[in-house]
Amino acid sequence: MQVDIVRDLKFSKIDHLFVLLAEGTADVPDAVQKIVKDAKFEGRSDETLTVLAGEPRKVTLIGLGKPDAITHRNVRAAVTTAGRTAKKHRDAKIALLFPYTLPRMDDDGTAMAIADALAQSDYKYDPYITVKKDQKRIPIHGTLIAPKADAKKLSPQAQAMAAAVQTVRDLGNMPSNILTPTELANRAEEVCKRVGIKCTVYGKREIARMKMGGLIAVNRGSAEEPRFVVMEYTPRKAKKHVALVGKGITFDSGGISIKPAEKMEEMKFDMCGAAAVVGLMEAIATLELPVKVTGIFAATENLPSGSAYKPGEIITMMNGKTVEVVNTDAEGRMILADALHYASGLKPDHIIDYATLTGACVVALGSDAAGLFTNNDELAQKLIESGERVGERLWRLPAWDEYKDLIRSEWADMKNSGGRWGGAITAAVFLKEFVDCPSWAHLDIAGTAYAESENAREARGANGAGVRVTVEFLRSL
Ligand code: BES
Ligand code: MN
Ligand code: ZN
Repeated sequence: MQVDIVRDLKFSKIDHLFVLLAEGTADVPDAVQKIVKDAKFEGRSDETLTVLAGEPRKVTLIGLGKPDAITHRNVRAAVTTAGRTAKKHRDAKIALLFPYTLPRMDDDGTAMAIADALAQSDYKYDPYITVKKDQKRIPIHGTLIAPKADAKKLSPQAQAMAAAVQTVRDLGNMPSNILTPTELANRAEEVCKRVGIKCTVYGKREIARMKMGGLIAVNRGSAEEPRFVVMEYTPRKAKKHVALVGKGITFDSGGISIKPAEKMEEMKFDMCGAAAVVGLMEAIATLELPVKVTGIFAATENLPSGSAYKPGEIITMMNGKTVEVVNTDAEGRMILADALHYASGLKPDHIIDYATLTGACVVALGSDAAGLFTNNDELAQKLIESGERVGERLWRLPAWDEYKDLIRSEWADMKNSGGRWGGAITAAVFLKEFVDCPSWAHLDIAGTAYAESENAREARGANGAGVRVTVEFLRSL
């Protein structure tokens, strides 16, 4: 929904006010205080109450539980309840009041986080539902009442973030027959045009001419052409240059090392890294951040066919190193390797990549934290802190050279899989062989980008793909 932030609001202008309340006292308007008292509303975490109030017409109280349960994640879930309730009630204008400050955040950060959650709360990807359940669905306008925040400044920022995150979610949710590599590149071009930045799309021949052996190899099994996309945001007076690199596998069947049928349909999300980079470019340009940013992604399908790359093949990558393919399902690192080498050639100050890279990372961290791998302790600290501030958590795992033993090949410089042990780490260590930049970070977003678990339900479709943490990091430069 469309969201704005105000410091105070006339209740006569809204249909439905939502108030999030923990147990104990809170600083809320007298009218709300009266409702709380009359209804004996305690603020328990499973408690919700809707009353007819006059002005506004309806008030819904949503319990948050004990005060120490006021965490970013719990509050996000409660805000989502508010958005979904508004949808069911067919409210056109709603307002939300959250009379607390989130841990590790100030009033502005809290307002941004709540506005973010509210903006995403009624999101649903349904362009292919032709028999609509709710014909009368109307767009909801949400207003966050944040008395202590710099509402004037934050409102457009929150809107820019919401739009970018929705771009990522839409791209992630699109089926792979529609969102082919070509279409993904087209969409990136459209976004760039809209926000006024340069976009260059390379096709199959140019990719071959650049000797991107990894991308070409993975693409061999597909009837769809690959794409390599470079988006450039170059503000005047920028002191730093950051390159963002995304994995854009529009469908990952595993290739000849084919995946089991169960849940294979989810592999349409295997381009969430590339989607995150597109969304990030949109956000960065709209927010006019004072940093030069180059967004890069490689896109292809990974499919089996008579021309598909096969286990045992040796591929010469763009940087000249050779890779023995032992598993065609380890395709993400093959295409990212070339993209990271390309990014290194631009000599940026930092490189960050985003990839739904390994099931092993999902096993290790689940869906509440993305895996962070980096060759730079200072960058690690900055990224982790940025993530904590915006509630998009990163957890560092090592990318030590010891793990290179696991990807040693008898036939080539390395092999593309080290097997199950330390699977997320060996993938990162593989990527490191193609990075020439002293400040590089790899985010394995396989667990966070489109998780469907209960606690991340509202996050389905690339909510945690790294957009928020990256914008926060870029602001700190
Ligand atoms: N796209 C997958 C990783 C993935 C798995 C993302 C589950 C989201 C959910 C990736 O290309 C892959 O298949 N990785 C393999 C690597 C293995 C063959 C070394 C994996 O994780 O099993
Ligand atoms: Mn794979
Ligand atoms: Zn993949």
